[in-house]
Amino acid sequence: MASTWASDLDLLRRRYFQQTPLRHIRWPTPLELDRQEQILDATFLSRRPSEKPAASFSHRFFKALINHAEASGAEISERVLEVFMDLLAAKVDGGIPQESTFKSYRLPSAGDGDGARADGEGCGACHLDEKWITIREDQLLTSGGTTGLHTWNASLRFAEFLSSNPTIIANRSILELGSGVGFLGLACSLLGARSVTMTDVDDDVIKRLTENVELNRTRIGASVVPDVQKLDWDEAREPSAAEIIIGADIMYDPSLASPLARVLGFLMRRDGGCRAVAWLAATLRQEETFATFKSALMLEGLYLERVGIEGVPDHFFHDEEARVILLRVT
Ligand SMILES: C[S@@+](CC[C@H](N)C(=O)[O-])C[C@H]1O[C@@H](n2cnc3c(N)ncnc32)[C@H](O)[C@@H]1O
Repeated sequence: MASTWASDLDLLRRRYFQQTPLRHIRWPTPLELDRQEQILDATFLSRRPSEKPAASFSHRFFKALINHAEASGAEISERVLEVFMDLLAAKVDGGIPQESTFKSYRLPSAGDGDGARADGEGCGACHLDEKWITIREDQLLTSGGTTGLHTWNASLRFAEFLSSNPTIIANRSILELGSGVGFLGLACSLLGARSVTMTDVDDDVIKRLTENVELNRTRIGASVVPDVQKLDWDEAREPSAAEIIIGADIMYDPSLASPLARVLGFLMRRDGGCRAVAWLAATLRQEETFATFKSALMLEGLYLERVGIEGVPDHFFHDEEARVILLRVT
């Protein structure tokens, strides 16, 4: 797709709300005064999504914008400078990574790359029908002894795949294992699932997951607000009524291979021998770890089919180099 100012602005906006590390942000050139103000309106001054990134991030973002504009000889907008100075005063964390922050993710939509349809907020990059998910999550990959307080790449990649293939979950009942902070389950809700149950084992994770469902409730619509439940793979032994079971980045620790395979065997069981379908997105960090999970799943009599996702366009910023693969388990 050819890059236009509208698509550049939309990309910048998505990178801002996802709090993408600044070294990964590509600034459009030239960056004249008018464009600086459009970026300001589409990011810091936009009313959607409602939760803003940390002040320290916003401050660094506008500092980079000003540096970039200055380097190209552009005059700097008074409005941008004013916000930059206000952010300097508001920046209370001294640049130290905060424990948790709000990241917002806009799901891919059919209109991506088209010209902008203004929403009346003075933000030319804002579309009326865009689907945002806001997640309070930790900056660190592991904190408090759990990996569940951060949105992992496999979830983002899985959501990109589902956005391109929404019929897989449309009008279906979904059970998610190891939901963490809840991005993927919330994405399923917004993509048309009939019901979504998100589960995890860790009490702190479940608390945050519940908060994140609440945070997004008004955007989701009452009929598909996800349910949150505790589900420990070591203990659950009942079939699930859900038609589809999903999980992202839950195949990361070899010691979890047998419990995960066993619980899937129970949850997917159906009368008459057929099974529910599970879709698992895994980040391939170590081939041996993945091989351990594959063997455990096959020992349970589960059939694994690798689904090609290479052709699905990257939409979110992905903070891990390791490749994500998708398995369909039956
Ligand atoms: C790497 S995180 C992935 C979180 C989320 N799916 C994502 O992609 O952002 C793995 C998740 O699996 C959960 N988990 C680990 N062992 C579990 C178990 N025995 N039962 C249920 N959940 C478990 C963790 O609490 C954590 O939330």
